[in-house]
This record gives sequence, structure tokens and C-alpha cells, in this order.
Amino acid sequence: MNYLDRNEFNFEPSQKVVEAIRNFDPKTLCFYTRIYDQGKKSVVSVRLSEIYGVPEEQVLLAYGGEDILKNAIHYYLMKDPSSESHPSELEDGRVARGLGAAKGDNKKILIPEFSWWYYNKVAAECYGTFEMYPLHEQEDTFAYDVDEVIDYTNRIHPRMLLLASPNNPTGNSLTPEEIGRIMEHIPDDTMVLIDEAYASFITSDTDYIAPLVNKYKNLIISRTLSKFYGLPGLRCGFGFIGAGHDHFVSYINKYLGYNRFSEAVALAALDSDDHYRHVADEMEWGRQLYKKALGDKPGFKVYKSVANFILIKYPTAIKERLQKALAEQDYKIKFMTDKGLEDCLRITLGRKEQTQTVVDTILRCL
Ligand SMILES: Cc1ncc(COP(=O)(O)O)c(C=O)c1O
Repeated sequence: MNYLDRNEFNFEPSQKVVEAIRNFDPKTLCFYTRIYDQGKKSVVSVRLSEIYGVPEEQVLLAYGGEDILKNAIHYYLMKDPSSESHPSELEDGRVARGLGAAKGDNKKILIPEFSWWYYNKVAAECYGTFEMYPLHEQEDTFAYDVDEVIDYTNRIHPRMLLLASPNNPTGNSLTPEEIGRIMEHIPDDTMVLIDEAYASFITSDTDYIAPLVNKYKNLIISRTLSKFYGLPGLRCGFGFIGAGHDHFVSYINKYLGYNRFSEAVALAALDSDDHYRHVADEMEWGRQLYKKALGDKPGFKVYKSVANFILIKYPTAIKERLQKALAEQDYKIKFMTDKGLEDCLRITLGRKEQTQTVVDTILRCL
């Protein structure tokens, strides 16, 4: 099967990752890690601290980026002792906009429109009252309006603000300057979570992260080994948080350590940037092909992408034919169902021959 529907990795892992798996001593798993005797979470948080220049105490580790998001949202909307909030059960167990918060609690979370559906799910799990701020379609891209995000946040004054850069599925991103501007102009008791699951595809520059988390205590930046490092099956997410959140850091931390096999593979991946950068560069070929082959066809719009997927508006009259033709060749792409994007496809950027097959199949269905 050719899975081009979930932004996974259709290339080879790095040689170092392969060797780390081959050379892993199974006896390592007979013992817990002892790095916590040194007051550290994991060999991986130590390495990430070195790479990103953020103190180890401010490095977060979790079961994928999803788990960083889930822990942070659950904690800050439900458990944070600095807020007045307490879980308030709804009688029918249902959560919807405007419901769920007891008087005086701040369980509000602001989420981008057209974003990863999981944000809403997690907010709903902990009875959050979520609102969406708009993303604006411009020519061949979507964009945040930074001033609007600032205004919205000041008006709503949520406990959390979620930003995604690059955003899934629209593929647009924020610059470090824009992040700084947002942080500077919003209430400092709003916890900001920036989901940077796809950020390494834009640039290998990570120098902006340490100054931001040093300056803004209310900031979490979440990343993962699932996308750029191509290891979604490993379930390794990591993040960085402003100083002074010891209670949350302890909440998300694993008392007896992390999966030692995953740690070994994660270290090898973090040491393989050249390999993964080369793969990321190859994806440009796919972006160009989609643009060239479909960009000027009636009913199509190929949006600009800075991540490992591309969003394409298509004439929905071909939907069933296209679904059938792809299934016959064992291909899966994502037919969007989100409100406002029902006429879009989101396609993972895979190997050249996979991109060619998808393009040929779409053209054949017209
Ligand atoms: C925007 C976004 N954030 C985070 C994730 C989480 O990925 P993982 O839990 O594998 O790190 C995904 C996965 O598709 C995603 O699309």
C-alpha cells in the first residue's frame, strides 16, 4: 500500500538509525534508565538540550507530538493549580462551544480554523470551550493575520492559544518574528502552544527557539521525530517550555524513564540531519510536479506548501472516480472533509514515482 494520506515517510531511514536498531543490546531493556539519578529525564532530553540550547529542565518528552499537545491541554485547562479551573462534568458528557466551564474558570482555548482535527478533540476531552480564529486564503496560500490573532486573544483572553507552524492541512507557517510579536502583545497568563511538527521542513535553523522560550514563560513549542525524521512509528515527540513550569514538567515526565529502545533510535535520528535534509529537498520535485501538472487545470488550485504534504483544490465531480482509481493501484491520499475544505485533497509528498502515479491518476480521471 502507498500511504500518502497521513503525512508519513515514504523514504528510507538513515543509516545511523538502521545501525542503532541492529546494534541495540536487548539486555538494555532489562533495566530502567539510571539517568534520572543525575536529575535528568532521558539521554534524549540531554541531547535535545545541547542541540537546541534550552536547559534540560525545560525540555519535554512524550509519546509523539500528540502526547505533548494532549498533556499540555489537559493540564492547563483542567489541572493547573495556578488557575481556578476544576473539571466540571457535563450531564450529557457532551462538550460544545460555550459549554463546560464553571463560573470563574478559564477553560477557553483558541484554535486556528482549518487545523489538525485532534486539537478540537483534545479540547473537548477536557471540557474546554474552544473558539476558532480565522486563517485567510490569499492567492495560492493561507495565512495567519497576526494582528487579528493578537486582537482575538486579547478579546477572548483564553487559558490557551494554539498556533501551528506549518499548519496542517493548509501548509502555511509563522516566522520567528511573527511568533515574537504575538507573544509580546497577548496576556502573559495565556499559555501559548505552537505545534511545530512540520517546522524542520522549512529550515534547519532552530536558533530562534531558545531566545523565545527564555523570554516568554507562557510558551510551549512542540516538535516530533514523526515527520522530518520520518519515524512516526517510534512515537517520539519533544518540546520546549518557558521556565518556571515545574509542576507541569513533573506532570508530563515519566518517573521511571522513557523507552530505552526508542531513546537509542531517537539519538541516531537526531544525529542524521544530512540524510533527512536530503530527503526533504527531494520533496520539492513533487511540489513542482503537482503545480506544473495541475496548477492551470480548470477547478484546481495547488496551494503553496512548506511541509511534507500539499493541499490541492480539485473538481469534486471526479471524487468517486479518483477514489476508485487510486484504490485499484493501492494508493491512499486524504480527501478532506473539514468544513470549507471539502473540495480539497491533502497529499503526502512521497517518492518521485509515487507522485507521478498520483498525478497521472488524477489527470486520467478528468
Ligand atoms: C499538525 C500535527 N501536529 C502533531 C502531529 C503529531 O504527530 P506525532 O504524534 O506522530 O508526533 C501531527 C500528526 O500528523 C500533525 O499533523
